[in-house]
Amino acid sequence: MNVLGIETSCDETAAAVVADGRAVLSNSIFSQVALHGPYGGVVPEIASRSHVQTLPRMIDEAVTTSGLDWNAIDCVAATFGPGLSSSLLIGVSAARGMAQCLNRPLIAINHIEAHIYSIFLDDDAPQPADVLPFLALVVSGGHTMLVRVEGLGQYQILGRTIDDAAGEAFDKGANLLQLGYPGGPVVDRLARDGDRDAIAFPRGGQLKVGPLLGGMDPALCFSFSGLKTALLYYLRDNPLPEGGEGLADVAASYQEAIIEALAARCETALKQGEVRALAVVGGVSLNSRLRARLAEVAAEADVRLLLSKPAYCADNAAMIAGLAGAGQGIRGNAALGMDVNPNMRLD
Ligand code: KG4
Ligand code: ZN
Repeated sequence: MNVLGIETSCDETAAAVVADGRAVLSNSIFSQVALHGPYGGVVPEIASRSHVQTLPRMIDEAVTTSGLDWNAIDCVAATFGPGLSSSLLIGVSAARGMAQCLNRPLIAINHIEAHIYSIFLDDDAPQPADVLPFLALVVSGGHTMLVRVEGLGQYQILGRTIDDAAGEAFDKGANLLQLGYPGGPVVDRLARDGDRDAIAFPRGGQLKVGPLLGGMDPALCFSFSGLKTALLYYLRDNPLPEGGEGLADVAASYQEAIIEALAARCETALKQGEVRALAVVGGVSLNSRLRARLAEVAAEADVRLLLSKPAYCADNAAMIAGLAGAGQGIRGNAALGMDVNPNMRLD
């Protein structure tokens, strides 16, 4: 089954064609980073306008480079949520129109579920049956959660952030350090030359049981807003000199606080339930220190570490088309009549 996937939940305009849920035939992405950079974050109005301008070109490119004819496309899948409603609407409207004009089913996909599925893309990736059940750490600019994956479509959210997402912590920290947007890749690069023990930034600590946790185990939930404030106060009391001396140490220490908060929750979750693997997905899973640290955590717990290929870590449409091709999502008339859902839940 050849699926055309469309992804416009935030600031990437993406289209891809995937065969049988695994073979990625094309993966076209237009990143709007340059448009949002001057504002230090994603501006929804600019994002949706850019999706309108760029999506037709991405769809055309995805189908052309897949080597398939339009009539070989068996269905059209799109992200219905979670994400920015004005951005989601552009991709879903395009997908709905295309499904009707091609006379093919429309499939509604959950963006977080697709991130988790990204570890199964390409023919050399593991098969779900070989690694289930597994623990998934979803770390992106908008989401941070720990999920127990029993099977495709069977998810239990064990913990989530009560404030900022891990990627947001990178971006806000980088903003305070005047490193531009998005901050994750820059902090990652700078931190390689820094001392990660130079400054003791807070590592999320132990959260208290309360309404924000919605009954989830505090030991598996995250909080990053205190870390950002700690950096703000640190820079106020220790302004960095003009030449940027000490910047690498600050970046490395700040990054380490984020990584250790993530690693500690993974360690705890791995002790709590029998799983065969630890999967790390989303844009922050590109972080080199996170990959190295979680390799240690997985080895200690004697489970496999599953990472998606770099092309499938950040937002992309291959994960959308792949998940649809694997039989997941809401399809047919139910999808045609469905509205976008900015707060769509995974479970
Ligand atoms: O998954 P993604 O493309 O979009 C969302 O669904 O949010 O993730 C984007 C996030 C940004 O916050 C960005 O700073 C972060 O991923 N990111 C990184 C790295 N590369 C991207 N964070 C840390 N280290 C990186 N190398
Ligand atoms: Zn995402």
